[in-house]
Amino acid sequence: MKKRFFSLMLLAISSYCANAQDAVKKLAVTPPMGWMTWNYYGEDISEQNIKEMADAMANTGMVKAGYQYIMIDDGWQGGRDNRNMMIPDAKKFPSGIKSLADYVHSKGIKLGIYSDAATLTCAGYTASLGFEEQDAKTFTGWGIDYLKYDYCNAPEDSTTAKERYGKMARALQKSGRDITFSVCEWGDRQPWHWAAKAGGQLWRTTADIRNKWKNTSKENSAGIMDVYDINVELYPYASVGHWNDPDMLNVGLYKHAGPAAWSGGNGCTDIEYQSQMSLWCMMASPLITSCNLAQMNEATKRILLNPDVIAIDQDALGKQSARKINDTIWNVLVKPLANGDYAVAILNRGDNEAIYKLDFEKIGLNGKYTITDLWSHKSSGKGKSWKGQVKSHETKLFRLHIQNN
Ligand code: GAL
Repeated sequence: MKKRFFSLMLLAISSYCANAQDAVKKLAVTPPMGWMTWNYYGEDISEQNIKEMADAMANTGMVKAGYQYIMIDDGWQGGRDNRNMMIPDAKKFPSGIKSLADYVHSKGIKLGIYSDAATLTCAGYTASLGFEEQDAKTFTGWGIDYLKYDYCNAPEDSTTAKERYGKMARALQKSGRDITFSVCEWGDRQPWHWAAKAGGQLWRTTADIRNKWKNTSKENSAGIMDVYDINVELYPYASVGHWNDPDMLNVGLYKHAGPAAWSGGNGCTDIEYQSQMSLWCMMASPLITSCNLAQMNEATKRILLNPDVIAIDQDALGKQSARKINDTIWNVLVKPLANGDYAVAILNRGDNEAIYKLDFEKIGLNGKYTITDLWSHKSSGKGKSWKGQVKSHETKLFRLHIQNN
């Protein structure tokens, strides 16, 4: 009898654990897609501009294309009230966050918010250390669906980081609402080894991305190529429910003067923005846009709203591409897809347009394939190789489907 009781208990505990894990996994089955305030507005946010972005996200077809979150980044906080409850800045958010969440939800969009694992955030606002459970409950009460948790003003060592992230993750899990948890410690403590276990669904892998192609000796900061070179090597750590996060998409920011423009972020060409989108999708990255969604031009919409390209990012297999060719000019990435196809990206890092020939055997793909160009939506031939013109800083993106004969 006793034995039977213990086995039943064991069964109950293990099925509880499996359910708890499933619940966590369900939160970001594919990489989260959305828009975040920081790179465009910095601290200069308000309920008005967030509502405008929610309207634009719904009206431009972004919601239909799969973008599902609006994230309020740093600068929303107005301190704590006399019960220590976090409150928003009353000037920026006069109607409160709950009312904003209701508005955003009414557009079919989820709402994210930001805090930090210390007493102050990066921009010096009230943060959550010591108030994890209380803040998780507050966020739940407001209807928050995603938390970006930063690591400014916190100790360097990874043991403390793991503890602090774990504590907030547990508080969120206990809070009774599904809240996606985004670990943001910039890759400094190799979170790809521990963030999933600590309860995160995604983790930043690099310093903040600036709105430029690559670092220069004059302005030491990370551009698209610098972030890509770090994140591309981390492919073994991404899987369904757990993603490497190489920071926001710069697409459509052009010369805008927000934080992405700091330290030499002087903007990119549309070809470079298209490359960023291609590479981020190949890396199964969260697609977090940052330009003004109400003012997107046709080129920006074409890049951000291409369903065939988004499908590569959101593919159900959840594999991040491996870099199979990496020389000074040419990079080739391969990403296996759920239906047996492969996505292949060819990046020309050089300063000149050039012709490239790729033998598929060289990247481990034997057999003959039909080749579809995902940017032109045209067939690009069939066979065992592809040859064509690639512009400087362009990324070609193809779907390869095996031919049966
Ligand atoms: C940084 C973070 C940025 C942004 C900023 C806000 O640490 O990487 O994405 O959130 O803080 O102060």
